[in-house]
Amino acid sequence: MDKYVIDRGEPLRGTAFISGSKNAASCPLMCAILLAETPTVLENVPDLRDIRSMKLVLEHLNARVEHGNNRLVIDPTDFDTDWVPYEMMSQMRASMYAFGPMIARQRRAAVSKPGGCNIGSRPIDLHLKGFRALGVEMVERAGYVHARHNGMVGSEMSLLGANGPSVGATCNVLMAAALAQGRTIIHGAAREPEVQELARFLNAMGARISGIGSATLTIDGVESLHGTTWRVMPDRIEAATFAVAALITDGDLLLRGVDPGDMGATLTELLRWGAEITVMQEDQALRVRRMPGQTPEPLDLVTGPFPELATDVQPLFAALLGITPGLSRIEDRIYQDRFLYLAELNRLGGQFAQVGNAATIRGVRGYDGAAIMASDLRAGAALTLAALAARGQSTVRRIYHVERGYEQFERKLAALGARIRREAEAEATPRPPAPWEDARESAMGLAAVADEVAPA
Ligand code: EPU
Repeated sequence: MDKYVIDRGEPLRGTAFISGSKNAASCPLMCAILLAETPTVLENVPDLRDIRSMKLVLEHLNARVEHGNNRLVIDPTDFDTDWVPYEMMSQMRASMYAFGPMIARQRRAAVSKPGGCNIGSRPIDLHLKGFRALGVEMVERAGYVHARHNGMVGSEMSLLGANGPSVGATCNVLMAAALAQGRTIIHGAAREPEVQELARFLNAMGARISGIGSATLTIDGVESLHGTTWRVMPDRIEAATFAVAALITDGDLLLRGVDPGDMGATLTELLRWGAEITVMQEDQALRVRRMPGQTPEPLDLVTGPFPELATDVQPLFAALLGITPGLSRIEDRIYQDRFLYLAELNRLGGQFAQVGNAATIRGVRGYDGAAIMASDLRAGAALTLAALAARGQSTVRRIYHVERGYEQFERKLAALGARIRREAEAEATPRPPAPWEDARESAMGLAAVADEVAPA
């Protein structure tokens, strides 16, 4: 296993090229292709572990997949398999997105029930509710969910859950309803840009979906769908990650290949923090740096369904607020347990605590390098950014989480001036020097160092 070794470097500068969206490409779009009777070409596909995992799922279902140069050609002609085993689901929980297409095209389907993960419990009740509303019989047995029907019929339903709308359930029901008989109306639909992308993609394949971008989607079922050629939308979470990278290192970055229209809540909060953001909509670009002469402000944030602040950017904001003077708070209303990484930020000298479904943050003057460990994808990215701003050297372990969703993360950061490299994980790390053995500290005197790391 590899780790990142990160030394504090210069502020990041230059142009960051943002990849195609993982959460659009790796699940809804790749799975929706199974609904068609002819091949589809996807362009601007990021080269990620999640894309390779989903390729294996599609191959298991007997689709043919060619992948290279940020392009996927998927031929679903021989798609005939109707189940996803435990081993695949446990590797790639987004395999759940294949359930809708399997139900629609095979009439019989079974998936291993996905369990929880490091960001909390991940129920699937809304997926099942939506399929049942289309007339599909659903039975749970021995860790699997089995489905069967003799023709799905459109109906009116609400997919609103206790935590709001569900991206996954909306996508799954949208895909199945595209091939159901008659009209389906989904109330309480998720409005995330990736759901909108799926709806537009399905329409390009011959589906009839209206209300895209609203909480009510209307789907008029069609007999069949055909393949198409499609360019995947920009990754709004990767763009947010590089925006925070610019601010946390006091740098100045131009982000290219972004859609600022999808990033409203993130940009609003970064502006409140004290960022200067120049939007170049027609060039699909954003320039991000600290507002000259302005002291960054602590924030009180709440995540929610789109267009509210995305849960996926929550750890990135935490890393930034950890070194912003004052008291901040972030409440996560989507995933209540997405805070495992706080203990790692505390290892860098941060002052974070979890209280219920919120993080409280007392900003310190700076992080200190240490060995830390990623617990999930966005947490891994946030820890990497914190390490870029930390004094001294840090190592970030379990970077396979990061590689699930960031294309060439360390190379992109290094190209902007970050001192980050990848190394094989050593068996043991060397004993750290005590404060009185550290050459820098002997030169400055211990009292000066103690003052430097004192909380703001
Ligand atoms: N929920 C239910 N019942 C369901 C489904 C969801 O109660 O049947 C709840 C969830 O527990 C959660 C909320 O609804 O509280 C939202 O879950 P949702 O279904 O919207 O999430 P998802 O489809 O499982 C996708 C992304 C996540 C992202 C969320 C929210 C993919 C593969 N995953 O997950 O991305 O955080 O939407 O925007 O697209 C990530 O990129 O690291 C990631 C976790």
